Amino acid sequence: MTRPSGSPHHALPAALTYSDYINDRAMVEGLVMLPAPAGVSPGEWPDTDAFKPGDDWPEGGAWCHDEVLFIRTHQAFEVWFALIMHELNSVIRAASRLWPGGVPAADLGKRAEAPALRPIRLDRWPLTKAAIAEVAARSSAAGEILAQIAEPMQMGLGAALPPGMGEGAAFNQLLSLGSHRLGRATQAMLCTIPFFDVLATLTPAEFLRFRGRLSPASGFGSVQFRELELTVGLRELHAAKIAPEGGEPTPHPPILRPGPRTPPHAAAMAFHTVQPVWGIERLARRLNQPSLRDLVYALLSAAASAGRRADGPEHGLPDMRDPAVDRLLATNLRHLIGDHFRGAGAITLDDTGAAHLRSAVAELGGAFAQTETVAAAMIAMHPAQERFTLLLEAALDLDAALLRWRDRHIRFVEHIIGMRRGTGGGGIQYLRGTTSAVRPAHLTHGLPALWQARSFVQTL
Ligand code: HEM
Repeated sequence: MTRPSGSPHHALPAALTYSDYINDRAMVEGLVMLPAPAGVSPGEWPDTDAFKPGDDWPEGGAWCHDEVLFIRTHQAFEVWFALIMHELNSVIRAASRLWPGGVPAADLGKRAEAPALRPIRLDRWPLTKAAIAEVAARSSAAGEILAQIAEPMQMGLGAALPPGMGEGAAFNQLLSLGSHRLGRATQAMLCTIPFFDVLATLTPAEFLRFRGRLSPASGFGSVQFRELELTVGLRELHAAKIAPEGGEPTPHPPILRPGPRTPPHAAAMAFHTVQPVWGIERLARRLNQPSLRDLVYALLSAAASAGRRADGPEHGLPDMRDPAVDRLLATNLRHLIGDHFRGAGAITLDDTGAAHLRSAVAELGGAFAQTETVAAAMIAMHPAQERFTLLLEAALDLDAALLRWRDRHIRFVEHIIGMRRGTGGGGIQYLRGTTSAVRPAHLTHGLPALWQARSFVQTL
């Protein structure tokens, strides 16, 4: 790197300064105030004529001392989001090289739309059949509900084994590098959460002094937060923002722009409406790249294929042939009944009890129907797969950190604006929906298989 030098040794490159390397000037001068947008009357907007980036923040008129806290906190989040994306992307890029044809896409949206799950064929699962018969002997109604459970592993990605899966150096490197870097991304995400404590020193009245002029801008339009969500795997969550109803093509597929037939609410939420052009370009690029969900599902699905070979599991992966899965399901059904009736010998089912049992069985069956969920539970129980387990734990931790971020943001927003609508037109209700347990898991959690597997791991 050569740069102009004031020293007599003009021929030599100037010594690197901290400032050159860190680019801190961009941050010092990163506090800007654009001229008033059209239609804003003088007095409502700061007089920007005499202000240039890097100056002390003016006082008086429409200038607000507390706006600096607001802008700087958002910038701090964005700096850390950039680091998180850097770490996360590097893991996905390394993984993409393992599958010569690219990481297959885990299309959980399509799975959720599939027709109802097939009920279990009990002849194939003798241990489960015996566990259900035990329950039926105590209560035929409970036995009938259990017998409706879905057939295990009826859905799955069917991903091919990446070459060297299980023992190859490249694969092991991915597991180590992946856990290390995902762990770093998680710490960075968690580290941003206390930023909200600093911003929460802003009183509602202080915020109201400048809030009006932000509208319609909001964190809702954060490019990097959307990139992060999409890269973790939450594609379906944003389907309507990516392609609003009645949307029309743009130069950046798959992102569509709202068209004349797009309902106003959908148009207001669309990425094309709230994102700057550079953001749309980045998001469109992300949408064409694999996500952490794709990677984790592909690894789990490949592990299931290796564990289901008729002549025995490959590469030290856990046995996932029918007898092993049958044993896990039977154990889980026994535990479900034990938890449900809290150890009582007799099973009495009134209508409410039957409804609860039905929903618990549907949940267990729905999760067991996913090959990747069963694989995740099996791997967690398998001591020989420590590295694999560490990678999966690191991926889950990142997903958990994103949820913790959302939870904190929701409480924080409640603290600052209560139930008012946000400047982006949403509010607490919208934000709560992003973590709501009543929504399908693939809309709130990046890696549903890993979360579901937590319920099924046993000490067999
Ligand atoms: C006074 C401070 C803040 C308030 C009152 C606030 C309020 C809100 C509200 C009400 C929403 C829902 C959409 C809307 O109507 O705007 C929202 C969304 C969002 N905010 Fe904040 N926020 C604040 C600070 C922050 C900060 C510091 C960040 C950090 C980047 C942030 C990031 C986001 C993101 C990413 C969303 C979209 C969430 C989603 O769609 O899941 N917000 N905010």
